[in-house]
Amino acid sequence: MSAPILEVRDVHKVYGGVRALNGLSLSVAAGEIHCVVGPNGAGKSTFFKTLIGVERPTTGQVFYKGQEVTKLPAFRRARLGLSVKFQNISAFGELTALQNLFVPLRRNHRKADIPARASAVLARVGLAGVEDTPVRQLSHGQQQWLSIGLSIAAEPDLLLLDEPAAGLSSEETARTAELIRELNRSGMTVVVIEHDMGFIRSLRARTSVLHYGRLFAQGGFDEIATNEDVRRIYLGAA
Ligand SMILES: Nc1ncnc2c1ncn2[C@@H]1O[C@H](COP(=O)(O)OP(=O)(O)OP(=O)(O)O)[C@@H](O)[C@H]1O
Ligand SMILES: [Mg+2]
Repeated sequence: MSAPILEVRDVHKVYGGVRALNGLSLSVAAGEIHCVVGPNGAGKSTFFKTLIGVERPTTGQVFYKGQEVTKLPAFRRARLGLSVKFQNISAFGELTALQNLFVPLRRNHRKADIPARASAVLARVGLAGVEDTPVRQLSHGQQQWLSIGLSIAAEPDLLLLDEPAAGLSSEETARTAELIRELNRSGMTVVVIEHDMGFIRSLRARTSVLHYGRLFAQGGFDEIATNEDVRRIYLGAA
């Protein structure tokens, strides 16, 4: 396995009486697609929040490219090449698809270059032809892809996707998997949280199972899918 681009060591996150993360240790290799699954409330989204810096761990450490970033503010982590698409749609509904991209592109590009850059990002996520459509008129799938477009606008090295296939048709789900593979081929490390097992299977990636805020199992998809203990936690018995 190549050097980890990301590593969390014994991370705990406590909200009042809730242990959202309870000793999570996990590493992601540079260049891989890494899937994260687990029952509702397992701590998956909280894991992403501590990575991106919108939440600080109660205890434990986060390393990115070998540097400790546990206490680094979110905007500084973004500059180091970390980007996230959270569970909800992040685009502005009243603006067009193209206009939505102006916001993240403004940081790194000259004003005159931005429209062409924005079109290129939209083409990359399969949205060529709907540049001037207001976001609220786009399908749910198109809005998900726009959210991915917003999160890749700054060309991150590590992309975190929280449930990118939620609410999508099977055809849209297949296109989303292909988009993720394409981003990965272009050099991005991608960590994907999902509930849709067909989608996870199609990514053919190393998969980590979270349960009660810690790493419960890890392996290739087939290994995870046939693991009796994993099946049991999904049925709610463990
Ligand atoms: N801001 C918060 N305040 C209090 N409790 C929280 C907060 N955020 C998360 N939790 C709790 O922490 C636990 C883990 O939540 P988290 O959102 O990380 O789970 P998840 O694995 O992403 O679940 P899902 O699959 O439903 O999205 C849950 O019990 C949740 O209710
Ligand atoms: Mg979640």
